[in-house]
Amino acid sequence: MKKCLIAPSILSADCARLGEDISKALDAGGDLVHFDVMDNHYVPNLTMGPMVVKSLRNYGITAPIDVHLMVEPVDCIIPYFAEAGANYITFHPEASKHIDRTLQLIKANGCCSGLALNPATPLSILDYVMHKLDTIVIMSVNPGFSGQLFIPSTLHKIHQVRQLINKSGYDICLAVDGGITISNFSKIAAEGADMFVVGSAVFNQIDYKKAIDSMRYIIENPMLSSYY
Ligand code: DX5
Ligand code: ZN
Repeated sequence: MKKCLIAPSILSADCARLGEDISKALDAGGDLVHFDVMDNHYVPNLTMGPMVVKSLRNYGITAPIDVHLMVEPVDCIIPYFAEAGANYITFHPEASKHIDRTLQLIKANGCCSGLALNPATPLSILDYVMHKLDTIVIMSVNPGFSGQLFIPSTLHKIHQVRQLINKSGYDICLAVDGGITISNFSKIAAEGADMFVVGSAVFNQIDYKKAIDSMRYIIENPMLSSYY
């Protein structure tokens, strides 16, 4: 069985002690760091830039860093994130004038490339770029904030993208981002997600390990998890 990845999102972490809080989430079983970048232009919120990625590397974070760009334009900032230590870079197709060029730029900078699709973004956007993608992120909330409610209609979209990936034969990671909780985790897992981005479901809990262990239990015991 392919290993599913749990990606704690920095958006819900304690920014005053970011390195420490992220280390805690990784020690508790998180597989990689989901680094949300917002510009108060593409989305109505503002977060952090490449220098924070570099600081996390200097602090000693060695886990992969998955940069989720919610910025417009995107191309100019990609080399800075790659240089700072990002491993994956994902952007929103609406934020790039030339999607194929942006994907090439991410690869040319040595990172894995991803496209993040908002709840209302059609899947046809994937038609001519599947072969250039390492990750497809299905946004299960509208981007901009942590702690929002999961949009139920995105479950079907996750299912559709799972089928598209399987049919394509490409090794593409299917990630889901937004509103994931222990209560909807089994439904999302059942649709075939490979990566679960979790903000408040980890960082707003007292015991990060208990939260992540429960998620792994659901992944590993799909038949037993109807309780959730
Ligand atoms: C939303 C971000 C998410 C967010 C998830 O725009 O892309 O990564 O941090 O937070 P939760 O899990 O709390 O919805
Ligand atoms: Zn995100």
